[in-house]
Amino acid sequence: KKIAVFASGNGSNFQSVIDAIKAGKLAAEIGLVVCDKEEAFVLERAKAEQVEAFSFSPKNYPSKEAFEMEILEKLRERDIEFIVLAGYMRLIGPTLLQAYSHRMVNIHPSLLPAFPGKDAIGQAFQARVKLTGVTIHYVDEGMDTGPIIAQRAVPVLDDDTRETLQTRIQETEHEMYPAVLAELFQK
Ligand code: GRF
Repeated sequence: KKIAVFASGNGSNFQSVIDAIKAGKLAAEIGLVVCDKEEAFVLERAKAEQVEAFSFSPKNYPSKEAFEMEILEKLRERDIEFIVLAGYMRLIGPTLLQAYSHRMVNIHPSLLPAFPGKDAIGQAFQARVKLTGVTIHYVDEGMDTGPIIAQRAVPVLDDDTRETLQTRIQETEHEMYPAVLAELFQK
């Protein structure tokens, strides 16, 4: 499966996906990294892994439609079949949704529908829940609302700080995303 990974920041989930591919655990090829922040660390990772990246600044475009049209063109040129959102901090618009409906997934650090949106880990920590987790879901027009594919629970321990909770959730993400993608791509 030829995929594109969309990310805005650190890119640790991109790293887990490429590592799984290199280890022969995921039958996929990352044809493009798409990044809406010119200085994001994921771009360094892509470079180190010799994966092509397209980075852009939304403010240089008149509209979301305009930059999504450009992204779509790049995806098509590279025959990208599937989009993996991995910390892409932006709602996907109709241009990409229509082209890749049912072929785009996202990972979110909570048990949706609890704690959608930004800083789900901080939200869960402040709510003092005993259990949170990770959700992988298809992408629709809403914020973290699409059909759920897989969920894993992560406990919040009494002595957790926000940081230790984040570490536990991210370890879960890094194991879970490649495994769930591998299953999806078998179908
Ligand atoms: C992850 O926690 C993911 O669930 C959320 O954004 C974070 C991205 O982290 N959507 P990274 O850039 O993959 O390290």
